[in-house]
Amino acid sequence: MPLKNDILTLMETQRGRLFSGTVLAERFGVSRNAVWKAVNALKDEGHLITAVGKKGYMLSEENDRLSAEAVRAALGAGFDDVKILICNEVDSTNDAAKRLLTEENVSRAAIIADSQLCGRGRFGREFYSPAGTGLYLSVVLRPDKSFREAVMYTAAAAVAAARAIERTTGVSTQIKWINDLYLGGRKVCGILTEADTDFETGRVRSMVIGIGINVTTVSFPEEMADKAASIGRNVPRCRLAAEIIGGLYRIIDNEFDFLDEYRERCFLYGREIGFSDGSRSFRGTVAGIGDGCELILDTDLGRFSFAHGEITDF
Ligand code: BTN
Repeated sequence: MPLKNDILTLMETQRGRLFSGTVLAERFGVSRNAVWKAVNALKDEGHLITAVGKKGYMLSEENDRLSAEAVRAALGAGFDDVKILICNEVDSTNDAAKRLLTEENVSRAAIIADSQLCGRGRFGREFYSPAGTGLYLSVVLRPDKSFREAVMYTAAAAVAAARAIERTTGVSTQIKWINDLYLGGRKVCGILTEADTDFETGRVRSMVIGIGINVTTVSFPEEMADKAASIGRNVPRCRLAAEIIGGLYRIIDNEFDFLDEYRERCFLYGREIGFSDGSRSFRGTVAGIGDGCELILDTDLGRFSFAHGEITDF
C-alpha cells in the first residue's frame, strides 16, 4: 500500500489527534521528508489535514473527502470481508456494483461515489446526484432468498438509513412506504433495489441496494424543488455511509429484527392516498404494514395488501 494510504489509515483511527512527523516516519520506516510528501499528496486530494506548527499533522474531524480508509475506520470490527470502493464520479453506483458482481466473486461490498452522471431512481426516474453534497452508496449482497422475501431487504435498508442519519446527525426521518425517507414533508433519501434472480429456482442470486441521501444539497432542479430537501447537517459522508453499511448487514445477520421500528417510522397511517401497483391505480386509506412489509390499504372495493408499487399522492 502506498505510504499516503498507510498514513491516512492511521490518522482515520483518531481524527483530531496530532501525529508528529517523526512518529509517522519511524512507524512506517521512512524519512520525515517522505512523510511530508505523502501528507501533501493527501492534502492535494482534498483531505483536511492541518500541520500544527512543527509539532505534526492532524486530520480534521470534519474531513469530508471520501476514502475507503475513512469508511473502514468508521465501520469498525466485523466487516473486514466487505470490499469498499470509492469513485470520484461514476455513471451509477448501482451499475458499478453490478459490474463488480460480474467481475469478482465478492459476497459483501459497498460502492460510494462523490457524484453520479446517471443516478437512477425507481420507475426509471433520474436521481439528482451533484458532487460533494450527497451520499450515493450501493451495498452488495448475495442473499439466497426467494424473490418475495427480498422485499424485506429494501425495507431493512430504509431503517438502516434512517438509523444512520439519526446517529450521525441527530435528525429523525420518517419512512414513506416502501423505502423513501422524508423530513418535514420532503424527500431526503431514496432507495433503489435491483436483484439478479434465477427463474428456475425463484431465488435471488445477488442484490444491489442503492441508497441516495441529500446531505447538504441546497438547490434542486426545478421539477423537484418543492418535493426534495436535505438533511442539512455537515456530517462526514464516510461516517454516514459506514453507519448504513454496518447497520444494514447487522439487520440481515440478526434475522431481520426491524419490523417494529419500520412500522413506527412509517407516517401515512389513516391518511387517504393514491396508489399504483404498476398497472392499476387505487385510492384508499393506509390501514397498516403487514408482516412482510406489505402496504395494507382500505379501498371502496375492500382491503388490499401490496408488496410492490408506489404511493403516488398523499
Ligand atoms: C428513488 O428515489 O426512486 C431511488 C433513488 C436511489 C438513488 C441511489 S443513489 C445510489 C444508487 N445509484 C443509483 O443510480 N441509484 C441509487
